[in-house]
Amino acid sequence: MSTPYDELSLKLAELVAEQIKSQPASNLALPTGRTPLGAYQVLVRQAQAGQSLDWSKINCFALDEYVDSHEKDSYKYFLEQQLFQYTNLPKTSRHFPDSVDDYDGLIASLGGLDLTVLGIGKNGHIAFNEPGTELDSYTHSIWLTECTRKANQDLFASADQVPTRAVTVGIRTILASRHIILVASGEGKRAIVEKALHGPVTPQVPASFLKLHPHVTVLTDFGDFS
Ligand code: GLP
Repeated sequence: MSTPYDELSLKLAELVAEQIKSQPASNLALPTGRTPLGAYQVLVRQAQAGQSLDWSKINCFALDEYVDSHEKDSYKYFLEQQLFQYTNLPKTSRHFPDSVDDYDGLIASLGGLDLTVLGIGKNGHIAFNEPGTELDSYTHSIWLTECTRKANQDLFASADQVPTRAVTVGIRTILASRHIILVASGEGKRAIVEKALHGPVTPQVPASFLKLHPHVTVLTDFGDFS
């Protein structure tokens, strides 16, 4: 039977699965958004087909969270619905940046991030580090740009329900991860990925800071950026 999943989703699911199998007590930072959805569905399908991964010793850290969103619009709800509920990831190992005082301290106390998976916004944001975010940033709250609010408004019942604020891990939080996967899907992301990875390192394009990291895997469906 042919698979309904695209190559990108299959590859991302494979890399996450490899991480969990090779290091069963890994600390993972995982994204929300449309891009990783297919990969999460692959993992869920595999679990339902009896090929469950063992998440019992894994810790998962959400990258970001809206402030004052309806529960069903929250990233916590997204991760619970799309992935966590289908795994044996303990409830106490599901971490969200808006409900922990010292998120970076918690991550460090558990041994640091082994793998961080990132999407990218059309303005170059990673997690919710919007243009202008400095390299020396840790988990913090931010104002969302209009560009980002607009890009995400389809996921809300109406445009005025898109929150104006969010909490996000910082650039230093991300760069401290041992391995980073940047995943981007669709021609609409090509220009910003090229700018981030081939242009100068600048706070105006937060994803460009990834060039400072020695182990970044880039997955796209529009070109090879390795
Ligand atoms: C959102 C999230 C990011 C995500 C990005 C891309 O605003 N905060 O973590 O990676 O934008 O989202 P999408 O995959 O839906 O294009």
